[in-house]
Amino acid sequence: MRKYNALINNELIDNGQWLEIMNPTTLEIAGKVSALSAKDIDNAFKYARLSQEAWEAKHLLDRINILKKFKDLIVENKNEIAQIMTEEIAKSLKDSLNEVERTIEIIDYTFEEAKRIDPHSQTGEGMGAKNKIGVFSRVAKGVILAISPFNYPFNLAFAKIIPALVMGNTVVFKPATAGSLVGAFISKLVIKANLPKGIFNIVTGRGREIGDIITANKEIDMISFTGSVNIGNQIRKNGSTTDLVLELGGKDPALVLDDLNLEKYAEEIISGAFSYSGQRCTAIKRVLTTNQIADKLLPILKQKIEKLTVGSPFDNCDITPVIDEKSANYILGLIDNAKQNGAKIITGYKSEKNLIWPTLIDNVSIKMRVAWEEPFGPVLPIIRLNSIDEMIKISNESEFGLQASIFCQDISTAINTAKKIKTGTININSKSQRGPDSFPFLGIKNSGEGVQGIRESLLSMTRYRGIVLNY
Ligand code: NAP
Ligand code: G3P
Repeated sequence: MRKYNALINNELIDNGQWLEIMNPTTLEIAGKVSALSAKDIDNAFKYARLSQEAWEAKHLLDRINILKKFKDLIVENKNEIAQIMTEEIAKSLKDSLNEVERTIEIIDYTFEEAKRIDPHSQTGEGMGAKNKIGVFSRVAKGVILAISPFNYPFNLAFAKIIPALVMGNTVVFKPATAGSLVGAFISKLVIKANLPKGIFNIVTGRGREIGDIITANKEIDMISFTGSVNIGNQIRKNGSTTDLVLELGGKDPALVLDDLNLEKYAEEIISGAFSYSGQRCTAIKRVLTTNQIADKLLPILKQKIEKLTVGSPFDNCDITPVIDEKSANYILGLIDNAKQNGAKIITGYKSEKNLIWPTLIDNVSIKMRVAWEEPFGPVLPIIRLNSIDEMIKISNESEFGLQASIFCQDISTAINTAKKIKTGTININSKSQRGPDSFPFLGIKNSGEGVQGIRESLLSMTRYRGIVLNY
């Protein structure tokens, strides 16, 4: 049985309280992590604050060199990290390893990009200022709270932690409960890499028990959160700080505007909708198209979806169990609701505990919940509409605004449609996706606040400091 400790000031915490972590594939206990108390959490922030000035005072290249030792340990342990992820979140072994490798690339790129966050100078002459030069540098915000979700426990943790640390902030990191084994496994690597005490603290425990205590701590200068809209909104209300970056849910539409390359469109749509069993913020969560196109697209989608393998993440199946039985019930509830209201199930709609077969639903109407809610599971609704304008309207009526896809060979139509879609990013002729990770990544409306991405995170985790010379 895996048993990993939280980390405060480079000390492994054993307060005698443990939180059990489920294996979604076997529905047995995969391991335990520390369940921290309010006092432990206070200590984590106390040490993060105490260590911050000295860490920031180090030269950028010294900070990078220190962090490189930690990155090297991630590289050494990448197979073990992937194995733990597969055990606790049922992501296929292949995809878990991809996630770790993708994160290592992000870390390397962050080290390089940080070197380009140079100060700039201004004279103010255009405003009539005389004999002045202002030098404006980016300096650390202070103590950053990083909270990650279950679905990318490694990637979304380090896409926050590394830019924060590189720029001289210190970090308190709260992993999702499903994802805490990976989170707490890192504790030993922090110690082994000999990172300066207190700069990187890992606090574990159930969000509903300690979440409010964590986010209300007075030492926090910024919160970087990825997760659901509900918890994001709770943090907006409860957070002790006004500096927030939130990456929240999505209901990404795929608008299919022509039938000129349906094989390719279907491949992208299926990969977008069903990778990691649909548990991606950027998953394609509804297809909007016309009757005519739907009639041709549907048989292609059906045939390809029925070829997806369903089963264990250790066998690298395409569709694996969703995170828990509560999520499975929610997903099945959305399908039931569509079926009861006249939608047609084309394939799937079979389940065993939390393993749900990939489900394609046709004739979904805008009165059905699955047209608007985020299932976070292997479900693809098709909504038949009359025109591109109607597709744009239904896309934009969503509470979410993360990403969208447009499938269309005529580039002018595609771009003109993209300009009318209200989401952070619009992908033409590809599934919705965050990557490459150097791109700015943002959600509007209920999908988030602020911008992530490598350069954008380095910027959001710093503030300007101007020093003005008068001569
Ligand atoms: P979640 O339930 O909102 O949890 C996210 C994190 O918040 C977890 O670490 C959770 O800890 C913690 N938490 C729970 N209650 C809290 C509280 N009161 N205060 C502070 N933190 C609290 O989300 P999830 O189920 O892990 O992830 C799925 C959601 O994330 C989906 O909606 C998905 O779209 C979204 N997501 C968005 C992006 C993006 O980039 N836009 C990327 C990935 C995922 P516990 O696990 O211990 O409860
Ligand atoms: O960074 C991981 C998550 O935010 C989305 O990534 O590649 O599934 O679009 P992806």
